[in-house]
Amino acid sequence: QSGKFTYDPGFTSTASCDSAITYIDGDEGVLLHRGYPIGQLAEHSSFMEVSYLLLNGELPSQSELDDFTRTITRHTMVHEQLTKFYSGFRRDAHPMAVMCGVVGALSAFYHDSTDIADPQNRTISSHRLIAKIPTIAAMAYKYSVGQPFVYPDNKLSYTGNFLRMTFGVPAEEYEVIPAVEKAMDRIFILHADHEQNASTSTVRLAGSSGANPFACIAAGIACLWGPAHGGANEAALNMLKEIGTPDKIPHYIERAKDKNDPFRLMGFGHRVYKNYDPRATVMQKTVREVFDALKVNDPLFETALRLEEIALNDPYFIEKKLFPNVDFYSGIILSAIGFPTTMFTVLFALARTVGWVAQWNEMISDPGQKIGRPRQLYTGPAARDYIPVSQR
Ligand code: SDX
Repeated sequence: QSGKFTYDPGFTSTASCDSAITYIDGDEGVLLHRGYPIGQLAEHSSFMEVSYLLLNGELPSQSELDDFTRTITRHTMVHEQLTKFYSGFRRDAHPMAVMCGVVGALSAFYHDSTDIADPQNRTISSHRLIAKIPTIAAMAYKYSVGQPFVYPDNKLSYTGNFLRMTFGVPAEEYEVIPAVEKAMDRIFILHADHEQNASTSTVRLAGSSGANPFACIAAGIACLWGPAHGGANEAALNMLKEIGTPDKIPHYIERAKDKNDPFRLMGFGHRVYKNYDPRATVMQKTVREVFDALKVNDPLFETALRLEEIALNDPYFIEKKLFPNVDFYSGIILSAIGFPTTMFTVLFALARTVGWVAQWNEMISDPGQKIGRPRQLYTGPAARDYIPVSQR
């Protein structure tokens, strides 16, 4: 019959999956990785150890951790031909555009491990992605500032290697500041995985078709770029810069509440957390540690603290259950360390790669796994006959 289908309130999404990797209780603000609370991992663990945990399900023994770290370290270099790929980009290209392109091209360089039917290839590709993503990210930054690429120095830690490849120059010795390395490593831990968020779901859906893992991670990077997702850290710092001083906060709070105003408090709110994002708690503490280590201060931190205090006491934000999320304070730390805002989401992608890889492995290793195929609720016209143009 003619006319549109009516909405069926009984329709429920089946786009979900089983996973043993990460657990979130949004109402209580709880985040567990393989059962371990994020606060304890951020305090006591390392990004390499958390990476092992996400991939293997258990915390490693010292010898297991040493073997894993050695394996990752030995894959940090990229194919020399890959360095030519960067020169095709404009120098002012957003580093996330470069990440999408370069990571998407990796299967052209490492096709020997893309036959994912072989578990050994899945492991090799996983290790290559985790190992090379810091090198690729640092190269994206170097290319954007017109400095030469710095090759990995495998005597350094995973995070120390990344800092040196990013901020070191061939002309001088680069000294990794332990407090900065620790803060950066903790930021990587806080971003490592987060259940079935938009980019992880993208990686799973892409992987369900049998696409190679490099292409799947590139799809995740593309999705993460959005300002509602991983792009929020860049947007949050830009918002704080726009607000400037605490006296301007009330005006922006009112704008955020105005449905006719597209302005949103970036770094606030979450699809799942209706309580304080436990990652934001650790992030706020880390700001002070980095400021003390670098003997710097950023007045935007005071603006952020005041903004949080006002918003958390505002009836609108209380009623909507809007709290700071992982992106609210991260930009202040990254800026203090020396990263430009355009690199913030790249750093998020660098850290989330291990989560994407762990989730991809979990999905692709499931013998009952089928291609993802979410359905829709059709709201268009009912079936009807074609009308010749002479009669329209
Ligand atoms: C990440 O999913 C993940 O796990 C993601 C992530 C991860 O680790 O992978 O945690 C990383 O993406 C964190 C989120 C980063 N994004 C931002 O900080 C951008 C700003 N936040 C908003 O865009 C928003 O909060 C979302 C997109 C995150 C969630 O939007 P929703 O789904 O609309 O949130 P909601 O349903 O809880 O909103 C309730 C109400 C809505 O108003 P009403 O329709 O009820 O009238 O609150 C409003 C929203 O419009 N609202 C906001 C707001 N966020 C939601 N109002 C003002 N400012 C905000 N930031």
